[in-house]
Amino acid sequence: MTQKPSHLTSIQDLSRDDVMAIFKKAAQFKKTPPKLHLRDKILVNAFFENSTRTRASFEAAAYRLGMSVINFTAIGTSVAKGETLSDTIANLAAMGPAAFVVRHSDPGAAFEAVRASLGIPVINAGDGPREHPTQALLDAFTIQDQLGAVKGCHVGIIGDIAHSRLTRSNMILLRTLGAKVTVCGPKTMMPVGVEQYGVSVSHDFDALLPKLDVIMMLRIQLERAAGSCIPSTSDYAKNYQLNAARLKKAGPDVIVLHPGPINRGVEITSDVADGPQSVILDQVTNGVLVRMAVLDYLL
Ligand code: NCD
Repeated sequence: MTQKPSHLTSIQDLSRDDVMAIFKKAAQFKKTPPKLHLRDKILVNAFFENSTRTRASFEAAAYRLGMSVINFTAIGTSVAKGETLSDTIANLAAMGPAAFVVRHSDPGAAFEAVRASLGIPVINAGDGPREHPTQALLDAFTIQDQLGAVKGCHVGIIGDIAHSRLTRSNMILLRTLGAKVTVCGPKTMMPVGVEQYGVSVSHDFDALLPKLDVIMMLRIQLERAAGSCIPSTSDYAKNYQLNAARLKKAGPDVIVLHPGPINRGVEITSDVADGPQSVILDQVTNGVLVRMAVLDYLL
């Protein structure tokens, strides 16, 4: 077995064995709550970009392991006075936390945080459009939990592929775990060379639907200028919205994932998001377990 990684900047930091060990731990935590064994440790949740689920999920995970949490946001801190990411992380590192969770709008910010963290583990909670490894882990764990295995499943990732950091992490992880992956969306939202991840590319959602076991819907990343890639949200919805009629084409056994936040009525309709085939809230519940397992594994 190879050495455990020191940081989680990219899903590629984890071998298949690491991922399996994390999933096993998350499943154990689901059955038996842990014994607050990280009681003496502090987690710094450093969020330089908006978040609801990921930040609260790491916080909940830390508390359930007995850790204390320092929640750091750009607003109300010296970031507003012009302090750099490196200086911010180095100063927080000097206070002796056990780990950092970092979200930032710059791709590669996680690597900058690693350089400044004085050797303290850094977990990437999303760096611009680049990667979001713990989201991919919780997505794959949810697929395994719902369908028995990731291997052999056909997963469709639908929408704004170009700007989606969790899609990059998911393509790598799902292929490593033996799933077939098709990314589907408008040509203008498809990154050049996406096939290098071992995925198929489609622009025809209706034709793809009957072939899928898992439908993973994405939000249009308007904060990353994705709005200029489509004529209008109604035109987008006409071709790529998951609604009841489309879900019927996929069949009754297909599961529907969405990382949140949902833009209801754009990429997904409420009846589907809240319907029996949706596992969106299971993803959130599993997210805490998977992040507990990641913290436990790295620490
Ligand atoms: C995603 C993110 O921030 O990358 N959300 C999340 O972490 N749960 C997806 C998104 O913002 O659309």
